[in-house]
Amino acid sequence: MQEKYKPIGFMDSGVGGLSVMKEAIKALPQENLIHFGDSKNAPYGIKTDEEIKKLTFSAVEFLIKKQCKAIVIACNTATSVAINDLREIYKEVPIIGIEPAVKPAVELNEDGKIIVMATPVTLKKEKFNHLLEMYGSDREIIFLPCPELVELIERGVLEGEELDNYLLSKFKPYLNDKISAVVLGCTHYPFAKKAIKKIVGDAKIIDGSYGTVKQLKNILMRRDELNDSNSKGTIEIFNSLNSNDILELCNMLLSAEVE
Ligand code: DGL
Repeated sequence: MQEKYKPIGFMDSGVGGLSVMKEAIKALPQENLIHFGDSKNAPYGIKTDEEIKKLTFSAVEFLIKKQCKAIVIACNTATSVAINDLREIYKEVPIIGIEPAVKPAVELNEDGKIIVMATPVTLKKEKFNHLLEMYGSDREIIFLPCPELVELIERGVLEGEELDNYLLSKFKPYLNDKISAVVLGCTHYPFAKKAIKKIVGDAKIIDGSYGTVKQLKNILMRRDELNDSNSKGTIEIFNSLNSNDILELCNMLLSAEVE
């Protein structure tokens, strides 16, 4: 098969990568997309680097076997820990990562704190610190690790008291301050956007999926590997839990209105 007709693979520790894949469905409707979620081992964001690397490599191996022409590490945590090693090993396939959208949040140029929600691992990695040095040095940036939010989304909790109370407890120290933007630095979090919006009001809520998909598109264009077929692409969902429940949740998330 010609490279351009091969699928694009997405991996995540669980169902979060679907928020990135949704952006790809919009921007690249003719592409065939495969998502592998490792819900059996989620959350990654509180594991050791060794564990995260091992799990990420095995998810990528799954997508390589599916003949993917490009692979999106649709997980901030796995990107921050494993992207360099992955690129070393898989030299033939472009590997695209995602990182917290600090740059667009700073470029809004609005007064107030920027709150970065992410997993504990993402927030303490060098890659993230480098991002802050490059773009955020003159702004007040608050780190808000929210590991439990991943577990709520993995259970399909996108609204209701449990989610609202959790988010309130996290945002409480900042509710009297001006917040200019909230960066969703974990691909699970966009599924809780409505609930986050209720708490932070007018603050802009930004995630990295738009930038990641833009980069994916540019890379495929440069390699002359964009799918030029006239028909709509296919979507395949795989999950390490392999249960009907998780596949139902994935389908629900793919069609959920999150704005
Ligand atoms: N969705 C992931 C991310 O973007 C990780 C969630 C987790 O497994 O902790 O960071």
